[in-house]
Amino acid sequence: MESVSEKKEKPLLIECDNLSKSFGRLVAVDQVSFKVHEGEIVGLVGPDGAGKTTLIRMLTSVLPPSGGNAFIDGFSILSDEQKIQDRIGYVSQQFGLYGDLTVMENLHFFGDVFGVENSEKNQRIEELLEFSQLKDFKDFQAEKLSGGMKQKLSLSCALIHRPKVLFLDEPTNGVDPVSRRDFWNILRSLNERGTTVFLSTAYLDEAERCGKIIFLHKGGILACGTLNQLRRSVAGNVVEIKCKTPRIAFLKLRNLFGTDVVKLFGNRIHVFLFASDTPGTIETVEKILTEAGIVDASITSVAPTLEDIFMALMRGKDDDEV
Ligand SMILES: Nc1ncnc2c1ncn2[C@@H]1O[C@H](COP(=O)(O)OP(=O)(O)O)[C@@H](O)[C@H]1O
Ligand SMILES: [Mg+2]
Repeated sequence: MESVSEKKEKPLLIECDNLSKSFGRLVAVDQVSFKVHEGEIVGLVGPDGAGKTTLIRMLTSVLPPSGGNAFIDGFSILSDEQKIQDRIGYVSQQFGLYGDLTVMENLHFFGDVFGVENSEKNQRIEELLEFSQLKDFKDFQAEKLSGGMKQKLSLSCALIHRPKVLFLDEPTNGVDPVSRRDFWNILRSLNERGTTVFLSTAYLDEAERCGKIIFLHKGGILACGTLNQLRRSVAGNVVEIKCKTPRIAFLKLRNLFGTDVVKLFGNRIHVFLFASDTPGTIETVEKILTEAGIVDASITSVAPTLEDIFMALMRGKDDDEV
C-alpha cells in the first residue's frame, strides 16, 4: 500500500480541469475534474453512454472539448497536441489495427507513424512481441487473430514509442476470461515498469483492481477514489445471504427492501442496508426469510463490492430526474 506522503512525491501526469463536451444539446461530459499521478492505474467506470469514450478522446487530444482543459505531463490538450501524442499511447474502442497486415507489419507501421527511429524500432518490436507473447504469431494476419490476441497487438502498437501514459478504452470488452486475465497481467507488469495506465471498463471486477476508480454517470463524476475510500463514502453495510433457494429469497427480500438495494449474484444475495433505513438490520432479513420458510440461510455482513457501492450511489439518481 502506498502511503499518502509517497503519493505526493510522484509527479502529476494527468490534470483534468472542468472538462466538458456537448453534442448539440446533449452534454456528454459535464465539468469533469480529477488528477492522476505517475505510476497510477486508474479505472474509469460507468454504464454505456456515461461519456467514457468522449472523455478519453478529449484527454488524448483526438476530440476538442467544449469547455475546460486538461494537461498531460503539463501539456495542454488545447494547444500541445504533438507533445501529447509523443507521451501517450491510446488503444481505442474500435479495432485500430490493419487486418490485412501481419502482426509484424502492424508493429512496423505504427513504429513509423510514431516516428520511432529505425535503429530502435526493431529492438522495441522484439521486446513487445516477447512481452505480449505474440512472437509465434508474428507472421499472422491481424484479422486472423483471436479477440484476446488482437487486443495484445493493439496494446503493443500503442506502446511502440514508449509512452508515459497509456489510455485504453474498454480494452477487454468481449474478450474471454482467460485472455482478460493475461491482458491484466501484461498491464500490471507494464505499470510496474513505470507506465501510468488509464482505462475504461464496464466490468466492475476489473475496476476493483485499479488503484483509483472514477465512476462516471451521465457525463459527471459520481465518485472518485480508491476502493476503500469509496467503501467509506457510503453509509451502510452489505448483508450477504446464501441459501438453497436463492431465487425465492431474492424475490422476498426485494419486495421489502426494493429492487435498487437487493441483488442476486449467482447463488448469493446482497442486500445493501443503508444506515438511515429503519428496517435495515440483519434481524429483519432473518425474520423475512424465516417467515418465507427459508431456514437454511447463512446471513453475514460483508464488505461492499464496487457493485454494491455503485448501487448505493445510484440509488434514486435516475428517479430524481423524472
Ligand atoms: N460524435 C457524437 N455525436 C453525438 N453524440 C455523441 C457522439 N459521441 C458520443 N455521443 C453521445 O454522448 C454520450 C456519451 O457517449 P460515450 O462517450 O460514447 O459513452 P460511453 O463510452 O461511456 O458509452 C452518449 O449519449 C452518446 O450517444
Ligand atoms: Mg465507450
